[in-house]
Order: sequence, then C-alpha cells, then structure tokens
Amino acid sequence: MDDTDDKTILIVDDEPDIREVLAITLTDMGYRTVEAENATQAFEVFLNENPRIVLTDIKMPGGDGIELLRKIKHQNPETEVVMITGHGDMNLAIRSLKYEATDFITKPINVDALEIALRRAREKIVMRQKLQDYTRSLEQLLREKTELQDHLASLGLMIGSISHGMKGLLTSLDGGLYLVSSGLKKNDLERMKEGCRAARETAERIRKMVLDILYYAKERELQRTPVPAADFAESLVGAIRPRVDGYGIRLACNFDRTAGTMEVDADYLYAALVNILENAVDACLKNRRILTHQIDFTMADQGDEIVFTIADDGIGMDSDTCEKVFTLFYSTKGRKGTGLGLFIANRIVGQHDGTITAASTPGKGAVFKVRIPKTPPQV
Ligand SMILES: Nc1ncnc2c1ncn2[C@@H]1O[C@H](COP(=O)(O)OP(=O)(O)OP(=O)(O)O)[C@@H](O)[C@H]1O
Ligand SMILES: [Mg+2]
Repeated sequence: MDDTDDKTILIVDDEPDIREVLAITLTDMGYRTVEAENATQAFEVFLNENPRIVLTDIKMPGGDGIELLRKIKHQNPETEVVMITGHGDMNLAIRSLKYEATDFITKPINVDALEIALRRAREKIVMRQKLQDYTRSLEQLLREKTELQDHLASLGLMIGSISHGMKGLLTSLDGGLYLVSSGLKKNDLERMKEGCRAARETAERIRKMVLDILYYAKERELQRTPVPAADFAESLVGAIRPRVDGYGIRLACNFDRTAGTMEVDADYLYAALVNILENAVDACLKNRRILTHQIDFTMADQGDEIVFTIADDGIGMDSDTCEKVFTLFYSTKGRKGTGLGLFIANRIVGQHDGTITAASTPGKGAVFKVRIPKTPPQV
C-alpha cells in the first residue's frame, strides 16, 4: 500500500467562490478537501497531502492547469486529475486528455457531471489497486513455483546421486566379501588380504559418496592443493584395479613420470575420473565380440596442462549418444545406470577450468580425454 489518501481531493482554482462551493459539495459527498489558489501552491499542497484525486481549473493566472497536470503525473502517475474547463477551452481540454487527465467537466459545474467524473476516477483507482494486487500475488506465485521446482530438482538429483553411490558401493562390497569368504574356505591368506583391501576401498568410496552428496547439496568452492600428477594417476589405478582384474580386463597404463604437480581439488577430480574409468569397464563388458579387453589409461604433461586419456575397446557409441553423454540423467544402461556419472565428471572438470571430450567408433570403443590446467587461470 502506498501512503496516498483516497478520501482526500485537492481543489485548485483561483476563484475563492468556486473553491468554496466545490468544497461544500465534495464534503457532502464524503470527501475531505484541501485547497490551493494557484498552480505553484497546488503542487506544494500535493506534495504534502499526496491526494489520489486532484480537481483543477485549466486556466489560472501564474501557471496553467495543464502544466500542473504534467507535474503531478510526473510526480505520481497514479494520481487522477479532473480538469475544470470554461467555455471555449475545448482545445485545452483535449490537450489535457493527452497528458492523461482522467476527465474534464465544464463550468458552471453541474453536480451530476462532477459525480460521474469522480466515480470514474475512483473506479480507475480501484482497478489499478486490484491490478497491482493481482500482479503481486502472481509474482509471489511464480516465485514459489520456481523455488518448489528448484527444490524438486535438487531432491531428484540427490536421490539419484545416493542410489548411484549405493549401487557402486554394494558391488565393491560384494566383491570384497566374496574374496574374504573364498579365502577363508581355501585357507588363502592372500585372498583374504585382498578382500580386506577391497573393503577398505569401499570405505574410501563411502567417503567419496558423501562428498558427492555434499557436492549436490551445496556446490562448494574447490579446495585446491598441489597434487603430483603421477601419484594422482596411480591412485586412480588403485581404485579401478579390483574391477578390471575381476573381469579379466587388461589395464595398460602409461604415465609420464616426469609430469609435475597440478593445483586441483584431488577428491573431486578423482571422482570425475573414476566415473570415466567405470564407464570404460561397463563398455568393455557389453562388447562380447572381444574376449580379452584392454583399457589404455595415459597421463601426459603437455605444457600448461595435464592430459588424461582413457581409451577402451568396448561397445562404443554412435554420434547421437556421443553428443548426449554429459547430459544430466542420460543413460543407455537402463536400471544399471543413473546418467549422473559423466554429468558430475563434466561439472567437476569445468570447475577446474578444464575440458572433457568424448569420441567413439561404434562397436570399436571410445576415447575420453580430460585436460586440466596445472594452475588455475589468474583472474
Ligand atoms: N566408454 C564408453 N563407451 C560407450 N558408451 C559410454 C562410455 N561412457 C559413457 N557412455 C555412454 O554415456 C552414457 C552416460 O554415462 P554416465 O556415466 O553419465 O551414466 P551411466 O554410466 O549410464 O550411469 P551412472 O550414473 O551409473 O554412471 C552411458 O549410459 C553410455 O551410454
Ligand atoms: Mg557411468
């Protein structure tokens, strides 16, 4: 609500008699009146009283009514200004309508005509108020709808992310437990140790999953630390080794031992690359035409960048799939995939100001390349 008063009318006329008659008539109609005898004084009263309706003579000595109308409309466009015109003022009256006067009434003032003009003014005020209220509630509704949509979207993302993590964790937990139990059966200490190691890795992945969830709940700033690229690549091998070995896939690594360090958020980048490696394993398993699969995992130091390449000889993708792989929830794995893996990977690599590309020959395999600047660009 603004602070204008819809019961107050400002009467502007240089003739005291006319002001008096108008004041009596309007008071009878239930209005409160304030008066001014010229345009200058009228504008002062207007600024003080802020009335919603102004009734002004069109011709006054020392500044005409049209000038006053323009000033008032400029100050508060929602003010309804009714012009009082004399005989022969038709041109002025028409001009006043151009400047958005509500109406004009002619002298001598007819009470019925005055009432009609004021009713119109009040109707416009009420309509404008209603329109403002509708607009406000519409805006409020839109805001609430957007908030709700955002909540739903992040909730969906969160649930997807959790199930995504769970799925992977259960698989590796199964693997670890299998090794422990078969080691026990065969009295094979090495096998049991291997199982324990896999279980430990699962714990590590739980940590990663929690990080993932946190990542969705609130996109946090990267926590960059200097990470030796070769050590980082080795840690990825450690993560994927149980899966590739378990399925008899050969993992051919070629890491540049002389590569320096990169300033990255190791936890996040690790999550991104594990997702790509896991996809490579999935793709190999789907390609039954080859008996022994191979994944080539290389890390190279290329000037300002560290480049990771993961190439598999799995089922590959057609160009349509290749274009969509980074899209949220895009998956061709049915219930086995959530379509979050590469979306997360892409986002993380993007946060590191790096790039990630996918290329493939359908039926022959796919190549994913991740380029990470060694140091973040200086802003
Ligand atoms: N190396 C690859 N070879 C062939 N297709 C791939 C490869 N990597 C990704 N894709 C395709 O891209 C899709 C999206 O991958 P993404 O990792 O985002 O999801 P997903 O693996 O299906 O599910 P998840 O969320 O469990 O990772 C996959 O479903 C698959 O069709
Ligand atoms: Mg995946």
